[in-house]
Amino acid sequence: MGAWKLSLGAWLLVLLSLTQAGRNFRLFRQYILQHREEQAIKEASLHLGLLAQSPASGLWNPPIESTIRQPLDHFNRQDQLTFNQRFWINEEYWQHPSGPVFLYIGGESALSMWDVLSGHHVELAQKYGALLVALEHRFYGASLNPDGLQDQNLMFLSSQQALSDLVSFHLFITQKYNLMSNNTWICFGGSYPGSLSAWFRLKFPHLVFAAVSSSAPVRAQLDFRGYNKVVADSLLNPVVGGSKECRDAVAEAFSIVDSLIHAGHLEKLAKDFHSCGALKGTSDLFEMVSNLADIFMGAVQYNDEGVQWGSVASLCRIMTNQTGSPYQRLMVTNKVFLISMMQQCLENSHEEVLRELRSTNLSVSGVGERQWFFQTCTEFGYYQTCEDSTCLFSHLISLPSELDICAEVFNVSRDRVQEAVAFTNEYYGADCPKASRVLFVNGDIDPWHALSVLRNQSRSELALLINGTAHCANMMPSRPTDPLPLIQARKWISAQVGEWLELAQKITGDH
Ligand SMILES: *[C@@H]1O[C@H](CO)[C@@H](O)[C@H](O)[C@H]1NC(C)=O
Ligand SMILES: *[C@@H]1O[C@H](CO)[C@@H](O)[C@H](O)[C@H]1NC(C)=O
Ligand SMILES: *[C@@H]1O[C@H](CO)[C@@H](O)[C@H](O)[C@H]1NC(C)=O
Ligand SMILES: *[C@@H]1O[C@H](CO)[C@@H](O)[C@H](O)[C@H]1NC(C)=O
Ligand SMILES: *[C@@H]1O[C@H](CO)[C@@H](O)[C@H](O)[C@H]1NC(C)=O
Ligand SMILES: *[C@@H]1O[C@H](CO)[C@@H](O)[C@H](O)[C@H]1NC(C)=O
Repeated sequence: MGAWKLSLGAWLLVLLSLTQAGRNFRLFRQYILQHREEQAIKEASLHLGLLAQSPASGLWNPPIESTIRQPLDHFNRQDQLTFNQRFWINEEYWQHPSGPVFLYIGGESALSMWDVLSGHHVELAQKYGALLVALEHRFYGASLNPDGLQDQNLMFLSSQQALSDLVSFHLFITQKYNLMSNNTWICFGGSYPGSLSAWFRLKFPHLVFAAVSSSAPVRAQLDFRGYNKVVADSLLNPVVGGSKECRDAVAEAFSIVDSLIHAGHLEKLAKDFHSCGALKGTSDLFEMVSNLADIFMGAVQYNDEGVQWGSVASLCRIMTNQTGSPYQRLMVTNKVFLISMMQQCLENSHEEVLRELRSTNLSVSGVGERQWFFQTCTEFGYYQTCEDSTCLFSHLISLPSELDICAEVFNVSRDRVQEAVAFTNEYYGADCPKASRVLFVNGDIDPWHALSVLRNQSRSELALLINGTAHCANMMPSRPTDPLPLIQARKWISAQVGEWLELAQKITGDH
């Protein structure tokens, strides 16, 4: 009757089902956001000649930054509660009074004035004489109600509320500038805001004439195992410096990690990967394997960002170095990551991760992890699991583990997450939204493309899949070093925007 005597490995597989918060991934994202802002400052400063003349000299009109008062709950007008939502306006390129309006949609993190000064949408505004406006997403950055991020307030955080915020903002801008029907609105966004961009056109076609939706995971999915499938393909892709040797070395290194876990060599693992504390129990081990996987996931997702150590090519250089075993190369990779992120050690404490996600401390800049995690639990899922046989990382990264965090942090049960995901797809149409005049842009290196629209749906619902680029690459400012497929993609996007504006002219002219 030894049937209930589980092996240690099987026991860990059961109990390790706790969480994949991906603390390292958050660090990676924060780093990328900061890097982007620094790049934007550099590009915009060059453009504005600020390097030669200080801003104080008065030659430069900074964008307008202000806030509008929004109902906290658009769906209950008897509720008088409001919050202040931040926005930015750049009037520099606008052909007053009939030029178009380009709306840049925020989400998942704070916005800043650089969002109306730098990026492909800014280049397009310059080309087409557009008024540039950007709206920060509710509950991110400074766009918060005074009660902050407490659980009971987060119920007003949803994509439906966010789209209604865009409606109010449209009205506000229209009144502020006395806009007419011949001021054509086009909206832009990338990642989750890319979905909002498509959905704003889908649900409010009378307000926005067309939408560019970049790297938008419009199909919600509970178990997003496709993410790590693309990560494996990208580590294999020679276009970005991947190879079969690289992919195989990563897989081998993680299988050694798993066997060390199964054999109970926790002290060795803690030492080899510079764990901040002893690996206390199964939940900490789980954080560790997630943290190690995060380094590769981040490098793939943000491959184009020009971060030297954090690209597929540089990780693959380490992982295919013939000195040392793949396991030792994984140790080197981890060390390089820690040094680059200026971390003393690898934080693998599950308790610490929960503490951070539960913290209602406000940060007016950067990523909003608590808020975004809440949105995954109540709308989108998107849990990047590793149970699929093609996954290179630790197979301990499982769906139940990810879902448990929704319960642990927000008291949202697994069933409710599943129901929420199904509702989101029903509400927006998943990857067959039946909209019109939307351009979906994706990069084939980017794991998120697996949940987006990759093929033309109709004559006006178009898709563009870029060879060799990662998450939202097309939204970045043009650089001389851009690969040809990216240059061509931006040209196509620009031509499409031009076509829409011409069409809009014709339509309003007919009236
Ligand atoms: C835009 O529309 C308004 C009113 O509909 C009209 O007065 C104006 O001349 C139009 N402007 C252009 C450039 O067509
Ligand atoms: C390979 O690893 C060895 C030992 O860690 C190191 O000295 C060498 O610089 C590495 N080579 C490359 C190309 O990274
Ligand atoms: C939140 O802020 C308080 C006070 O500044 C600080 O002591 C605490 O460590 C912060 N919590 C987190 C999770 O950052
Ligand atoms: C968690 O949610 C359940 C119902 O969904 C509720 O009965 C329970 O009181 C909640 N627990 C806490 C601590 O809020
Ligand atoms: C999608 O439609 C556009 C515009 O009609 C066309 O240029 C493009 O080749 C189409 N793409 C595919 C993959 O068929
Ligand atoms: C992407 O471009 C590379 C050349 O840079 C080519 O070998 C490969 O076949 C292309 N991939 C696709 C899917 O078109």
